[in-house]
Amino acid sequence: MEIQLWRNLLSPYELAVRELVVKFNHIIREHKEKDLYSPMEQVIGRVKSIASILEKMQRKGIPFDRLEAEVEDIAGIRIICQFEEDIDAVVSIIQKCSDMEIKYEKNYLINVKESGYRSYHLIIYYTVQTIDGPRRLQAEIQIRTLAMNFWATIEHSLQYKYKGNMPPHVRERLSKAAAAILLLDREMSSVRSEIMDAQNFSQLQTNLVADILNNIENLYKFSSKREVKKIQDEFFRVYESNNLQQLERFHRQLDIITEGYRAQAVTKEFMA
Ligand code: GTP
Ligand code: MG
Repeated sequence: MEIQLWRNLLSPYELAVRELVVKFNHIIREHKEKDLYSPMEQVIGRVKSIASILEKMQRKGIPFDRLEAEVEDIAGIRIICQFEEDIDAVVSIIQKCSDMEIKYEKNYLINVKESGYRSYHLIIYYTVQTIDGPRRLQAEIQIRTLAMNFWATIEHSLQYKYKGNMPPHVRERLSKAAAAILLLDREMSSVRSEIMDAQNFSQLQTNLVADILNNIENLYKFSSKREVKKIQDEFFRVYESNNLQQLERFHRQLDIITEGYRAQAVTKEFMA
């Protein structure tokens, strides 16, 4: 197949990958903006390389006219989670996305592969808009923890290096490493609530501080420099105490002060 034809074939998949990455990243952002823990840590996407498509077609005996139907991972999305429990939460989110239709799911967390590979896979249908109209494409979504990703990345490089002839001692090491990764995920799960609390705390604090600084900046429009400086000093004092409740109280008080100034300003404008 000519390179131009490949480009035409892959172009809608590029769009699908870009759109899906934007959508998942937005879900991460939505969680953060609402001070919620995000079950997704990171999203990555890629379009399968021509070489890799050709290799798969050859390996599975797929003819060109069946390429798009049978190579389901031309568009690939990988969602990385912190904890194993987060994977289910991500699957639920995807199930709720009305623009992603699930073709089937493969649970390699329950049905661990012989290699030791663990991940949750979904094949979805996703429609992109092109100048020739809508195109309903397939995409593969892999969901795994950071630890699973670490193992899979290294195992994949070794598979590539040995091209199907991995020496038994390397295979055995990888198998042992997979068991260690499983244990690591379980250990991390046991401290999940504590880690989540710490992360929630820090997210909440980040949002509060941003809000407060924004409010202080606005005060400059309504109030004297001296007054704002006093408030700013008070903020630094509260901030240094590292006490979330105090910070929240300060935030509420500042809101009231800002509202007061704003109301005064509006009245002045009205009276003028
Ligand atoms: P492929 O032809 O490899 O795509 O397999 P498949 O179409 O039969 O689907 P499968 O669910 O087995 O694998 C889909 C994808 O999961 C692969 O392309 C890899 O990215 C990943 N994967 C599956 N098995 C392994 C494994 O043993 N090790 C690693 N590192 N990745 C794997
Ligand atoms: Mg595959």
